[in-house]
Amino acid sequence: MAADSTNLLPLLESQWEAARLDHLRQIGRIAQQLGTPAYLVGGAVRDLFLKRFAPDLDVAVEGDTRALAEACKAQIRGAHYQFHAQFGTAILEDSQGFALDIAQCRLEHYPAPAALPEVRPGNIHADLARRDFTVNAMAIRLDPQQFGILLDPYDGKADLQAGLLRTLHPRSFLDDPTRILRGLRFATRFRMDLAPESHQQLKQALQADIFTQLSGARLWRELRYLLELEALPVALPLLTAWKLWFLLRPTAPASNTMPTLLQRGQEQIQWLRTLFPDEPPAIFIPMLILIWQDVPLADIQHYLDRWPVPDRSRLLADLQVLPGLPDTLLKAKRPSQKANIWQGVSVAGILAAMAVYADNTTLVDSARLYLQVQRRLPSLFNGQELQTLGLKAGPSLGNTLKLLREAQLDGEISNKENAQQWLIKQGILPPKPL
Ligand code: CTP
Repeated sequence: MAADSTNLLPLLESQWEAARLDHLRQIGRIAQQLGTPAYLVGGAVRDLFLKRFAPDLDVAVEGDTRALAEACKAQIRGAHYQFHAQFGTAILEDSQGFALDIAQCRLEHYPAPAALPEVRPGNIHADLARRDFTVNAMAIRLDPQQFGILLDPYDGKADLQAGLLRTLHPRSFLDDPTRILRGLRFATRFRMDLAPESHQQLKQALQADIFTQLSGARLWRELRYLLELEALPVALPLLTAWKLWFLLRPTAPASNTMPTLLQRGQEQIQWLRTLFPDEPPAIFIPMLILIWQDVPLADIQHYLDRWPVPDRSRLLADLQVLPGLPDTLLKAKRPSQKANIWQGVSVAGILAAMAVYADNTTLVDSARLYLQVQRRLPSLFNGQELQTLGLKAGPSLGNTLKLLREAQLDGEISNKENAQQWLIKQGILPPKPL
């Protein structure tokens, strides 16, 4: 391994606040006392060079994670930690809520393609060697004498500057095909591309049908991250160039309107989020609906059979109503009829519909009215109150509640008093004695 003496202290000091650096210095000092050197690793080092704020800090220690966390707790005022025995990792948090992950440096061995790796303790060099791309295989020393010195055995810094994602060895994608989708995400977020030899390895991995060996759960996890990317529209040309559309749909989209469609979907999600921050919609469902809106349902079923997507039947139902929505809404005259149509679609489905039919202002306005007002309209009576008025419990009570809601949506009633009169007029309640 080439020794690298690049000192990143000036860069660290210019990018990160002093408290964050102090915290890392303390950890480095404590780790050294224990005789188990610690390093800052992974995404945070990459993000430092990209001058992007790294929200998550990962520390790798050449020794016992719990012992380091325990010593930090004893020596750093207000520090505490949670230890995850299953992964041998600890989350260390200080009194100001500054948190970082600590993991033991490890060596990985893949017993079979696409299988989970067998791990055993190793040193920092082994830990960097097990990583996905050179840009993620850099570390920064935290021990006091060498604090800030970069370890960059695979020239990740140069690749980062060249905008290249390079695997560390030829079997990388075969060992772990999730790296292909991680690579796609990095390429999208950081506007990078695969190095030529990694592109070749991607081709070989696809020829070997490597994704068929990956569990549906692991595949879905990566796809979900992809669908949640803010820069998702930028990922679409990469899905084409990397020949990965088959992971999401049988063929690449026929037209080139998909990026615009997804961007519109993202805008609608943002709109709803701003209005109702307490109920953020799951981003991946509207995105899936948009990606699938022109795919035969039988094909979609095939994907859903493999992935643990929540609420699949809801998603399929949304996809089924989507094509007919403009006509169905056109036929609905009363506000309550329109609201009833929207009620049969999930919020995610409505957001997707607003993106698909963005040019249909009547449809979009109706969807907005439903999401903003109609679906949240407080009922004038609940079942209990109707029973107090003399109605019997049972299915007819449910129907009365529905009729009341429709009358309210159509502006026929607006308070308890006129609602009661309305019930009398409908013959649901007996007339009041004079
Ligand atoms: N890693 C890897 N292979 C994986 C998963 C993770 O090599 N299949 C390594 C990479 O070195 C990565 C680090 O673990 O940098 C942390 O992983 P993760 O938190 O998923 O990604 P980050 O690189 O930190 O990127 P970000 O959090 O910005 O998405």
